Amino acid sequence: MTKIIDGRAIAERIREDIQRETADFASKHGHPPGLGVVLAGGDPASAQYVRMKRRACEAAGIHSVAHVFSADCTHDDVLNAVHALNDDPQIHGILVQLPLFDQIDEEAILEAVRLDKDVDGFHPVNIGTLGMKGREPLFTPATPTGCMVLLQEIGAEISGANAVVVGRSNIVGLPVALMLLKANATVTVAHSRTKDLPAVLQNADIVIAAAGIPNYIQGEWLKAGATVIDVGTNRIDDPDSERGYRFVGDVDLESARGIVGAITRVPGGVGPMTITMLLQNTIKAAWRIAAQETEE
Ligand code: GUN
Repeated sequence: MTKIIDGRAIAERIREDIQRETADFASKHGHPPGLGVVLAGGDPASAQYVRMKRRACEAAGIHSVAHVFSADCTHDDVLNAVHALNDDPQIHGILVQLPLFDQIDEEAILEAVRLDKDVDGFHPVNIGTLGMKGREPLFTPATPTGCMVLLQEIGAEISGANAVVVGRSNIVGLPVALMLLKANATVTVAHSRTKDLPAVLQNADIVIAAAGIPNYIQGEWLKAGATVIDVGTNRIDDPDSERGYRFVGDVDLESARGIVGAITRVPGGVGPMTITMLLQNTIKAAWRIAAQETEE
């Protein structure tokens, strides 16, 4: 029997805790936690993600502000927005939606985010400490954290497991590989140049699929009883659906059913967890900054 992991239900439960914590913070400090969002990229999906993130903030009682730039903005415009959010006492977390327009130096922008407001976990110091033994970042990136929480929620044994991450992006593949390593898994990172992916996957107790290729990974490539977290959110044409398209993951769910032990669905798996982890990081940032201010 293959268990379908219901990310939506798990995220919903965590969001109830977040709402309570937000109210608790607001009653103690007289203002809610705040998230500042910077959107300076032309990917239509980014605009949709930012809308969803702000809507989730509102539902949770978190204050949010957005700096939205058009394609003719300069690097300094975006840098100034980050500096303004760094200095804003109502803002505890900053998210710079990626990818950025070509004229903007992503590395410099991410480095400019105040470390204790880096709720996306992409500041080079946070990514660096994530990769180091015996050190802890202040924040870990949202989607990889969502994957780890799903694994914990279903009671997957991570320590000592063979984990294969398919994809090496800065946003998902690389940080989730570092998090699995920290949790004592034996980690393999497969990518577009990997030879014979089915052979690599045959021995994987845990698979994180983050390649961005619709229905790519076939059930017969996977180990019997494996736990599979499918991060892929790929839009494919579907003349039978009302909208004319639907979303599928990187794993062919139908062929994996009956082989793997547990798998997330798409949509309704990792997606709802990503925003939830961002909200959680924002509250964490708010408590930490408030505690520091009390000490000063
Ligand atoms: N672009 C796609 N996913 C993400 C994310 O989780 N954070 C940011 N900042 N940009 C993204």
